[in-house]
Amino acid sequence: MKVLNFGSLNLDYVYQVESILIPGETQASKDRKTFCGGKGLNQSIALAKAGIPVYHAGMIGEEGDILLETCRDNGVNTEFIRKIQGPSGHTVIQVDKDGQNCILLFGGANRSITREFVDQVLENFEKEDIILLQNEISELDYVIDRAYEKGMTIILNPSPYDKGLEKCDLSKVSLFLVNEIEGYQITGEKEPDKILSRIKEIYPDARVVLTLGGDGSVFQDHTGIYRQGIYKVKAVDTTAAGDTFTGYFISSLIDGLPVEEGLKLAAKASAIAVSRPGATASIPMKEEVLNTIL
Ligand code: RIB
Repeated sequence: MKVLNFGSLNLDYVYQVESILIPGETQASKDRKTFCGGKGLNQSIALAKAGIPVYHAGMIGEEGDILLETCRDNGVNTEFIRKIQGPSGHTVIQVDKDGQNCILLFGGANRSITREFVDQVLENFEKEDIILLQNEISELDYVIDRAYEKGMTIILNPSPYDKGLEKCDLSKVSLFLVNEIEGYQITGEKEPDKILSRIKEIYPDARVVLTLGGDGSVFQDHTGIYRQGIYKVKAVDTTAAGDTFTGYFISSLIDGLPVEEGLKLAAKASAIAVSRPGATASIPMKEEVLNTIL
């Protein structure tokens, strides 16, 4: 069984601000750092740091070598990452004094994924393999359709949620990882329990992880509902906390851990990520997660 993550790779330009800007406001930032990120890359690195061999497929632009190096340094297989002309994906991220963020995304090379490239990559995978997806690349609907045809298990983090997702046949997804906003966008429901029951009605065969910020997370499958609280830490930067959770939770499923343990592991890994700056840089190794007492 192989794991493929077909997803974005971004350069994150992270600005430290007193408070997140409101419309019309100009504010001097206190600091700027560049980190490697992208929901795709973060989730691949979280999987790799959790001990799961992962192939990342995606595209970088002319200034994106550092994204490739970061994959390699963290043990992510880069065979299916292509470098193209033009800019890489990037973000402008404001982080305030409480570690909260807001993210402006520029798709760049992530939006140059073609159907031909998707076919080339998927040729190397088969039934029994797992594909992990987010919503920061072009041709997402095509990837889902082709992966489903092959019989691959499709895991989707529909983030950021936008109109593009409406083109996707989400009934082909085996596991959703959503936050409350995405849960609302998919179901029209705001209450966590209503989001879960609506997802069950629309996608009866799918399992769901619903993350609830400070209220923890909930997992639902045909056996029932499992809840997990958060580990409280001083938030430095919440960027990639959700991606860390995603990578670690999926690793626990692959390793065959009971759901309760998987949710705990993912919650702890993501709390550690929140306690330090950056995206990929903040994701802990499994040994650290296991040895940290929170
Ligand atoms: O989930 C966090 C990620 O979202 C950041 O690393 C940024 O690149 C955006 O894609």
